[in-house]
Amino acid sequence: MNSLAQKRILIGISGGIAAYKIPELVRRLKDLGADVRCVMTQGAQAFITPLTLQAVSGNPVHHDLLDPAAEAAMGHIELAKWADLIMIAPASANVLAQLAHGHASDLLSTLILATTAPVYVAPAMNQQMWAQPAVQANCQRLREYGMTLITPDNGAQACGDIGAGRMPEPLALRDIICQHFQPRSQLLAGKSVLITAGPTREAIDPVRYLSNHSSGKMGFALAAAAQQLGATVTLVTGPVQLATPTDVTRIDVVSAEDMYQAVMNHIDQADVFIGCAAVADYRPELVATSKIKKSQDTMHLALIKNPDILASVASLPNPPFTIGFAAETNDVVQYAQRKLEQKRIRLIAANDVSDTNIGFNSDVNAMHLLWQDKQGQLQQLSLDRANKLQIATQLLQHAATLMNN
Ligand code: C5P
Repeated sequence: MNSLAQKRILIGISGGIAAYKIPELVRRLKDLGADVRCVMTQGAQAFITPLTLQAVSGNPVHHDLLDPAAEAAMGHIELAKWADLIMIAPASANVLAQLAHGHASDLLSTLILATTAPVYVAPAMNQQMWAQPAVQANCQRLREYGMTLITPDNGAQACGDIGAGRMPEPLALRDIICQHFQPRSQLLAGKSVLITAGPTREAIDPVRYLSNHSSGKMGFALAAAAQQLGATVTLVTGPVQLATPTDVTRIDVVSAEDMYQAVMNHIDQADVFIGCAAVADYRPELVATSKIKKSQDTMHLALIKNPDILASVASLPNPPFTIGFAAETNDVVQYAQRKLEQKRIRLIAANDVSDTNIGFNSDVNAMHLLWQDKQGQLQQLSLDRANKLQIATQLLQHAATLMNN
């Protein structure tokens, strides 16, 4: 288990029966050397006392936004800046709603607005409450705001119900905190990652082309995430309006054939190839050398197939770990499975582009990952809706695990 020495962890506790498990979490964090401070909502104090948490954390417990003595000792802004990580556990439905709407109505909600620390949220509540669309919508918002939602466990609940809504056990929460501080840069250190992104443009004549709605945001998020995980990243991109991520080598291309060439020129050095571009499947057979004039009511354009970059990379004699994308409007998982098998790639990320809230041009995404395990069995993992950088990081973390197995 990793040391948490010199890590400053703030635990926010709200009113739920699972609060009785928090002193145990605090102790286990202290065992690993963390400096732990607790913030309690008023509801939390109905379940456990500040004195308990003070005893186990060895620090004063904070619960009042407007208490002059507490503010003089360590003001709420100071506390928000103090934390290296904040975990809200248990997070009641009320706290989720407060955070989703930017309230600053008590110490905990104000701290969350005032912090730049990563925030982990462990919702815990009755299964019926957890299933409410309003609660789920608040959780979605928190993900979009960059917080990490910890999925509640299933099982027997204090109220007698059985279902999803239990707070994960203290050791599981401690492990999530430890995982956060794992030096991420090591995960893809020494690896070279080649990524395609954006649309391609297929010329019809000097002024017209065929293309699609890809914004390139997902491919750019993958490039940023791979660089943050320690990889050397080359990004081959079609025409997009996006800034190049820090320390990423960018190669601009226009057509599918240009993209194919750029990829093949760099594939020898790649340990990982990610085909995220929305490459045009076809291009006009003939490109007119001057602007085509309007004449008949109908016009026929003969198209020929473009090279399949992803399939070409995967079928190289010594291919890199190859990851593809499947943007579909229906039967998403079935089509993705077919692509995984036909293109003989190692991992495919499938998303539903008919959902206008995610995917093309959006800053958020959600996807299913599909791959075959060593026994050839199809495996799946769903990545819940989150901003594209977070989704990209999760995808790469998963790919790194598959590569190392
Ligand atoms: O075959 P389809 O276009 O549905 O597959 C999508 C996946 O294949 C994406 O990862 C995309 O980047 C890649 N692709 C490619 N070259 C093409 C067409 C798709 O690399 N010509």
